[in-house]
Amino acid sequence: MNTILVLNGPNLNLLGQRQPETYGYETLEDVARLCEAACAEGFTVRMLQSNHEGQIIDWIHEARGTAVGIVINPGAFTHTSIAILDALNTYDPPVIEVHISQVHKREAFRHHSYVSHRADGVIAGLGLEGYAAAIRRICQIAAKGAPA
Ligand code: DQA
Repeated sequence: MNTILVLNGPNLNLLGQRQPETYGYETLEDVARLCEAACAEGFTVRMLQSNHEGQIIDWIHEARGTAVGIVINPGAFTHTSIAILDALNTYDPPVIEVHISQVHKREAFRHHSYVSHRADGVIAGLGLEGYAAAIRRICQIAAKGAPA
């Protein structure tokens, strides 16, 4: 089974309760359901969330050789973490960065992403649908060897 790692960063455990005017009322369990539904046959999703930078880095290291792609919403670490960027740079298969909100319409400090220096695709502002689109794209690349 080809595993796709879906990583969510800090505060995303509170999805559905946290600033619903920005992030909506759906929860991380809804994200998991959406991702599973978007998965092509022969693929499976491993859904993880942490508020801790080091834990996210450890999971990226574990994905080396075990996951065919990573979908990552690094939360606020997007804008601060060179360490997560460095970890992603040790990982060769496709990486797609997802943001539920349209970060470029928001505060200036959300406009820069360290993770985008590595990501093969970046999705922002599509709500939870962004995760499903990212999963579909990774399945497509992994199945057909399409360029990342
Ligand atoms: C976010 C955007 C980030 O700026 C913010 O810190 C988050 C969520 C998004 O999904 O829109 O925690 O990554």
